[in-house]
Amino acid sequence: MCNTFYIEIYGCQMNVYDSKNIISVMERRGFERTLDPKIADILIFYTCNIRENAARKVFSAIGMMKSSKTKVIAIGGCVAQAEKEELFKKSKLINIVFGPHVYHKLPDYVRQILNGEQIKIIDIDLEKFSKFGKTLNQKNISFSEFITIQEGCDNFCSYCVVPYTRGREYSRAAKDIITDAKHLVAHGTKEITLIGQNVNSYDGEAPYISIGAGSNHWKLDRLLYEIAGIDGLKRLRYTTSHPKDITIELMRAHSQISRLVPFAHIPIQSGSDKILRLMNRGHTVTEYVAKLKMFKTIFPDMQFSSDFIVGFPNETFSDFEDTVRIADDVKYTISYAFKYSRRKGTPAAQMDGQIPESEKEKRLKILQDTLIRCQIDRNNSLIGQTQTILFDKHGKKPNQYIGKNVCMQSVIAESDTNLIGEFRSVLIESAGPNSVFGKVLYKDE
Ligand code: SAH
Ligand code: SF4
Ligand code: F3S
Repeated sequence: MCNTFYIEIYGCQMNVYDSKNIISVMERRGFERTLDPKIADILIFYTCNIRENAARKVFSAIGMMKSSKTKVIAIGGCVAQAEKEELFKKSKLINIVFGPHVYHKLPDYVRQILNGEQIKIIDIDLEKFSKFGKTLNQKNISFSEFITIQEGCDNFCSYCVVPYTRGREYSRAAKDIITDAKHLVAHGTKEITLIGQNVNSYDGEAPYISIGAGSNHWKLDRLLYEIAGIDGLKRLRYTTSHPKDITIELMRAHSQISRLVPFAHIPIQSGSDKILRLMNRGHTVTEYVAKLKMFKTIFPDMQFSSDFIVGFPNETFSDFEDTVRIADDVKYTISYAFKYSRRKGTPAAQMDGQIPESEKEKRLKILQDTLIRCQIDRNNSLIGQTQTILFDKHGKKPNQYIGKNVCMQSVIAESDTNLIGEFRSVLIESAGPNSVFGKVLYKDE
């Protein structure tokens, strides 16, 4: 009988993409996936280290999920990269620690443990990117897929662990990305999201040299034109963008490519120039707002979402109020607010002026109230509009389906036929704070 594995996934889209590839490489080597951790021989935890609570989750999960059947426990991803050998001390049960760039070697490591080798295995090589280029198994391909086009980050925001857990920026060759995208679309993918920690700094080797083009590298906008042209693809997205790397060419691409959603996640983090400087974000509030304005001028349909961090070291209440103001002024479709989390090894963790937890909570609550208010206004404004929705899951009630509009807002509708994986035109009829409700009008092309 073949060995079974269970995988628990935390963190961002990069982890979702990596995990799908882990599932494919494990299956190709004869392991079988189970959705029940209690019957699995192998438990894989693919982790996130971005905030303290994200990192802590993994230890309680190990305790909850292991059973008398468990033979191997492997911890991968960003906590593995950050904590290294320390993880073996934190839990004696862990057999394998593997970083985000070496998951393709996991089947070999698992075999070693299953063969009875009494060793602890650690591989946290951040240098090579040999993990790419292995296509997903056909049965794991869904109607909506991510493709990593860029990984790592050179921005070194002072609060962030990503440059340490994912390493320096690396862009995959355009030819390989196009091959992956064509493979997915040929197997039923309708929506592709190109992902990267800093996706719009993409600078990948061109598939061919254009005469007179002067460069044998492609930027994100050029790649978007190419991928959007794949026959059968219906919707194209990318995330996450850094404000300083938004170019006029990218704005033009949005206005010219109909399959590209009129939407981008462009986090500002704080509305105070002083805090942005301390965060090492590389732009001011004015520069950020000017970019969004320019985007709207070139392409008036464009919508944005953002992340915010509250309680960064030395953030006064007045700095915080500047953040609330910007969240209110820019009409974001969706926003995410986080309490600053002090991460080991980052410059901000060493700064004086750390804000007490209770104050961070208070600020988070105030900002979230503002964001919810904006979202309710925004959701109400959708009533009466007809939108194209890609449905991706079941709702709470029978016959209820939940999907996303182009701006990633949740839309709920009822249907007698299965809508999962289908695009439908939906008339928005009412709105709540987190989602809107609509009626399916007709089947889309
Ligand atoms: N590369 C992306 C962000 C990736 S991390 C960008 O720069 O936009 C996702 C979000 O987590 C960030 O936008 C930030 O808001 C939040 N984040 C990162 N580190 C954090 C920390 N130490 N504490 C709280 N939030 C953090
Ligand atoms: Fe982290 Fe900043 Fe890089 Fe985003 S741009 S991944 S926040 S260092
Ligand atoms: Fe988390 Fe690593 Fe993504 S720290 S947010 S899983 S890059």
